[in-house]
Parts: sequence; structure tokens; C-alpha cells
Amino acid sequence: MPGLKRYGDWALVTGASAGIGMAFAHRFAAEGLNLALVARRTDRLDKLAGELGGRHGIRSRVISQDLAAEGAAERVGEAVRDLDVGVLVNNAGFSAAGRFERVPRDKHVEMIRVNCVAVAALTHVFLPPMKSRGRGAIIIVASAAAYQPLGLAATYGATKAFDLMFGEALWAENQGTGVDVLVVSPGPVETEFQTVAGETPHPGATPDSVVEVALAALGKKPSVVAGVANKARAWSVRLGPRAVVARVALGVMRGFLPEAMR
Ligand SMILES: NC(=O)c1ccc[n+]([C@@H]2O[C@H](COP(=O)([O-])OP(=O)(O)OC[C@H]3O[C@@H](n4cnc5c(N)ncnc54)[C@H](OP(=O)(O)O)[C@@H]3O)[C@@H](O)[C@H]2O)c1
Repeated sequence: MPGLKRYGDWALVTGASAGIGMAFAHRFAAEGLNLALVARRTDRLDKLAGELGGRHGIRSRVISQDLAAEGAAERVGEAVRDLDVGVLVNNAGFSAAGRFERVPRDKHVEMIRVNCVAVAALTHVFLPPMKSRGRGAIIIVASAAAYQPLGLAATYGATKAFDLMFGEALWAENQGTGVDVLVVSPGPVETEFQTVAGETPHPGATPDSVVEVALAALGKKPSVVAGVANKARAWSVRLGPRAVVARVALGVMRGFLPEAMR
């Protein structure tokens, strides 16, 4: 079967209430996939579900869940137990930028829980049934931040490095199973991300462009960096001495932060 329906009839998208996750939801609905939408802001998910149902005639299920909470992945799994989820998009995530000790400890822990623990736990819930069916797709939204140590967003960068390594390893493990795994790493994207992170606004790509890059690479490679300049940067930092790379990255981040957080 051509298109995304080759993976199944349902896609589950975390962080569907805004930005890149919402763009994935729109794209999947346009392809006729039914949607399980996960985030904390239920009002937004309800509105999106109504909109996509009206426009594309698809079914949706809204799952209001804080992915930082203990047992979140199990609760999400339970909420869709009767559905054959063929596509999982681990997209929900956030950053809290600033010098490490100026960001509250709870924020660092929450970030690790949403950006890493939930990603691994949800994948653990949804991968086995995909393998049993012999078809499925798991997309993980990492970041260009994954490719180097990122001073002033140290925890965020490290969580995204986790996502990148985790997803690429699962890509290798799942060769020949019918399950495609892909990590997509965007550079700056114009979403609510910068506001949530406390960064000063800077221009970025559109969420739709990130979705297009991801879907073009799905099934073809383990990971993709969105955008030519981001791709070049991701490659160049692999070649540079790590001490230099860490200092340069810190300097770049400094430009994105208000004085009080540097
Ligand atoms: N925008 C960028 O510049 C950029 C660059 C590289 C990578 N990324 C990555 O792209 C992904 C999507 O970010 P975005 O740019 O679309 O940001 P966004 O507009 O802020 O959207 C983030 C989404 O994650 C959800 N989320 C955050 N914390 C959550 C929690 N505790 N429980 C459940 N859902 C939670 C939010 O939903 P609720 O608030 O409703 O819960 C929202 O739907 C993230 O993983 C981010 O790291 C973004």
C-alpha cells in the first residue's frame, strides 16, 4: 500500500497541541490516518480533532497526559489499547535555557522525563505490537542541539543527544522487522518552543517543512537533519575538536538568551 497507510490506520502524536506535533497531525490526517493526540492542553487537542475530522473525515482520540508524570507511557498505551497504532511520533519536548544552576532543578528533571524517559517508555509500549504485525513507524523528534555539547542549554542538548543515539540504535535493531525508525533533527523552528524555553525570538523554519523532511527520509535512513545549513553544521561539529566545538556552541547560545540567564 502506498503512503503512510502502509504502516496502519492510526498514528499517535505526542505534543500535538502545538508546533511540529500539530503539523504532523495535519499531514497524517490529509493522508487519511486516524489520530491519537497526546498533550496536556486538552482544549487545543479537542479543537484540532474537530477540525481534522471535519476536513478529512478521520477519527481522533484525545489523550490528555502530562508526559513528565510517573507511568505516563503506560496510561497512554492503555488509552489506545483497542487501536492498532501503526505510527508513533515521539515529538513532545521542551527546553529551559540558561546557565545550568540558574534553571530550577525541577525543570531539568522534568525535561529529562519528557524528552527522554517518555520517549523510551512510549517506544517500549508501541514497538512490540508493531513488530508482531510486521509493520510500523517510529519517528523521534530530536534536534540539531543533539550534535554537540550545548552550553546554556546543557540538559536540553543532552536529552536530544539521547534521542538521537536511542533512535539510531533502534533503527539498526529493527532492520528486517517491517518497523521503520527515524530520528529527525530540526534547527530553529517557528513554534512556541523559544517562548517556552525562555529564549529571545530568532527566525526559524516552518513546522511543515520539518514534517516533509522527516517523511521523505522515513524508511530510507536512521536519521536526518532538517535544513541545509543545519546539516552542514551537524557534520562540521563532528570533525572539530570537542573543546572548540563546546566553546563555539556556548557562544552561539549566548546570543539567544536574555542577559539574566547567561
Ligand atoms: N522549535 C524548535 O526550534 C525546535 C528545534 C529542534 C527541535 N525541536 C523539538 O521539536 C519538538 C516539538 O517542539 P515544538 O517546536 O513544536 O515546540 P512547541 O510548539 O512548544 O510544542 C511542544 C509540544 O510538546 C508538548 N509538551 C511539552 N511538555 C509536555 C508534557 N510535559 N506532557 C505532554 N506534552 C508536552 C506541548 O503540549 P502541552 O503544552 O499542551 O502539553 C506541545 O504540544 C520538541 O521535542 C523539541 O525539542 C524544536
